[in-house]
Amino acid sequence: MTSASRQARGAASSPSGDGAAPRPAVPNLLGPSFDGVTPVLQPTPPPPPAVRIDGVSKRFGDGPLVLDDVALDIAPGEFVCLLGASGCGKSTLLNLIAGLDRPTSGSIQTPAEGSSVMFQESALMPWLTARKNVELALRLRGVPRGERREKALALLDTVNLADAAEKRPHELSGGMRQRVALARALAQDRPVLLMDEPFAALDAITRDLLHEELERVWRATGRTIVFVTHNVREAARLGQRVVLLSSRPGKVAGEWRIAQTVGRRIESPEVAALSVEITEQLRKEIRRNAA
Ligand SMILES: Nc1ncnc2c1ncn2[C@@H]1O[C@H](COP(=O)(O)OP(=O)(O)OP(=O)(O)O)[C@@H](O)[C@H]1O
Ligand SMILES: [Mg+2]
Repeated sequence: MTSASRQARGAASSPSGDGAAPRPAVPNLLGPSFDGVTPVLQPTPPPPPAVRIDGVSKRFGDGPLVLDDVALDIAPGEFVCLLGASGCGKSTLLNLIAGLDRPTSGSIQTPAEGSSVMFQESALMPWLTARKNVELALRLRGVPRGERREKALALLDTVNLADAAEKRPHELSGGMRQRVALARALAQDRPVLLMDEPFAALDAITRDLLHEELERVWRATGRTIVFVTHNVREAARLGQRVVLLSSRPGKVAGEWRIAQTVGRRIESPEVAALSVEITEQLRKEIRRNAA
């Protein structure tokens, strides 16, 4: 036995000696090993999920069931794409996570600090410049007046829009407006970012650019992102996990985890291969519903 391992075993197992001050309780991170001598670090338990969706069902009034027993745990810092055909309940589920509506049954746990939401339309204040739009979110968060300008400019820089800070929304392209909306969502400084088809109205090239920017922002900020889309390629390009919802009612119909996300592009062969697989499953779901 090495002296280091002896020390480690001693530290982990022996009580304090006679007369010594009682030791503070420390978690025992060492477990028994195969040879009973060499200490083994016990695996650390996974962190609690950032978002826990537990048996959630939703019905509007006495209408049909829109979501049926949806269960999903989303880890802190995870990037999850929620994919499904139009009308399957993606926005309904996102609104429930955002706390904008309540489930009919089941429960949703989110961080106490809440979440920020970004929609397909940027919904910027048309009379305010890009910077002032971001400053407004900072003000609502309680950031002191003297710090807002600098913080807003830093956030606009994060989304590559520093040069357009003094422009009003009508002077910006659709892609630029969505960048301001992203900066505004980041200004709210919530751990969870919920995005409902934020790039659906953009052309393919702009969307591609924004995918890169969102990925960079995600890596830099460590936000938990739930990104709703009905675009299979977009989901396969962006997510660490793609969750497919079936239609009428919306249920989790499939899940794909993507181990290697660095360097992915919309035209990457692995994105294409995954898209084929997901599309096949999506078609099955649509056929099943049509039957
Ligand atoms: N407030 C509401 N009142 C009544 N029905 C609603 C309400 N919101 C959504 N629905 C219904 O719930 C179902 C799911 O709608 P939802 O907007 O969640 O779909 P979606 O998957 O986001 O579709 P899309 O891809 O077209 O945005 C639809 O049938 C819709 O009509
Ligand atoms: Mg929707």
